[in-house]
Amino acid sequence: MSDKGAHAPEVVAFTFDNETLTGAAGRMLAAVLIAQGRRILRRSPRAEMPRGAFCLMGSCQECLVDVDGHRRLACRTSLVADMDVRRVTLE
Ligand code: FES
Repeated sequence: MSDKGAHAPEVVAFTFDNETLTGAAGRMLAAVLIAQGRRILRRSPRAEMPRGAFCLMGSCQECLVDVDGHRRLACRTSLVADMDVRRVTLE
């Protein structure tokens, strides 16, 4: 008997700036976004340079996003179904 796929993660849908994407539930949101080719998570306030996940351990703050109306670090947030993720505009 094969147990192939017995531990496969559940694939769930979420939105990123109103675009529907999918990813493995429980995975780090930053990793899911990078895997989907979404590397720019925000723009720097003054120069408006593209910013994205850098340290992947909660230190640099470069992965700040809005998740269901709350600012979260994408590298410290696990993906769950139906998340509404948006780029943050810093002023
Ligand atoms: S990537 Fe550095 S805090 Fe998230």
